[in-house]
Amino acid sequence: MKGIIMAGGSGTRLYPLTKAVSKQILPIYDKPMIYYPLSVLMLAGIREILLISTPRDVEVFKNLLGDGKHLGISIEYAIQNHPNGLAEAFIIGEKFIDHSPVALILGDNIFYGTDFGNKVQEAASLIKGGIIFGCFVKDPRAYGVVEVDEHDNAISIEEKPEEPKSSYAVPGLYFFDYQVVEIAKKVTPSTRGELEITSVIEQYIARRELKVELLGRGLAWLDTGTNESWLEACNFVEAVQKRQGLYIACIEEIAFRRGYISRQQLQDLAFPLMKTNYGKYLMEIANSKNSMPLLYSY
Ligand code: G1P
Repeated sequence: MKGIIMAGGSGTRLYPLTKAVSKQILPIYDKPMIYYPLSVLMLAGIREILLISTPRDVEVFKNLLGDGKHLGISIEYAIQNHPNGLAEAFIIGEKFIDHSPVALILGDNIFYGTDFGNKVQEAASLIKGGIIFGCFVKDPRAYGVVEVDEHDNAISIEEKPEEPKSSYAVPGLYFFDYQVVEIAKKVTPSTRGELEITSVIEQYIARRELKVELLGRGLAWLDTGTNESWLEACNFVEAVQKRQGLYIACIEEIAFRRGYISRQQLQDLAFPLMKTNYGKYLMEIANSKNSMPLLYSY
């Protein structure tokens, strides 16, 4: 399975914060927003990643993450010239995908919860069809909304409906088989002028090849679309990290615990960051003899 991170968009809902910089580079508490979706792909065991951004912002991500070698993964970059919608990711990424199954994650979606690492690892073993998730939210009108039957099969999906048919919002994390490229090519722009991811999902529903996994209340799915929800996400990460002393979306830690890099490599990454708590945390992990108790692993 390969992975695509979509970090494009104009971020106008956060202006003036995002007038000159990418939304996905803004901090969520102590690390750039992009670390969070990247960590999800890494937890899923996906090590070949394509990051899609705007012509203006792509260099910033290259400076931050490079080719990914230091994390034991490979990161390539591509450009979306205009905000034409999420489904365009599969067209831009056609060569990268190369008939493989592929996961798409949005650069501004944050997930945290027990067992989430195992869940995404399982989803990443998909070979045929598609898997999406459903999260119960109070007001799903700002999202894709999925209606499911008693066997968790999707009945319908609608993008930002005025009158949602269910309370299940579809978070920005999708797993598809190789067919997704051809499906995306046939999608026509919506009334807001975008190639919608929901149109791709509709096709999988029509083929009866879509599974919906409803995420329980123990899973926190945070989005960062407004100043308010952005601040809430920052406060959430701070509260969890302070209390547990375990970091959320620490990509170097995940690389080490998933066996992508050695203890020595982790020490080398920590060393230049020793003035920060982040660096000290990495060094502590690199130096600890005991592995983390199972309960607290990802
Ligand atoms: C996009 C998708 C929507 C999904 C949401 C998750 O919305 O179109 O289906 O529920 O991401 O964050 P947008 O970010 O374009 O408003």
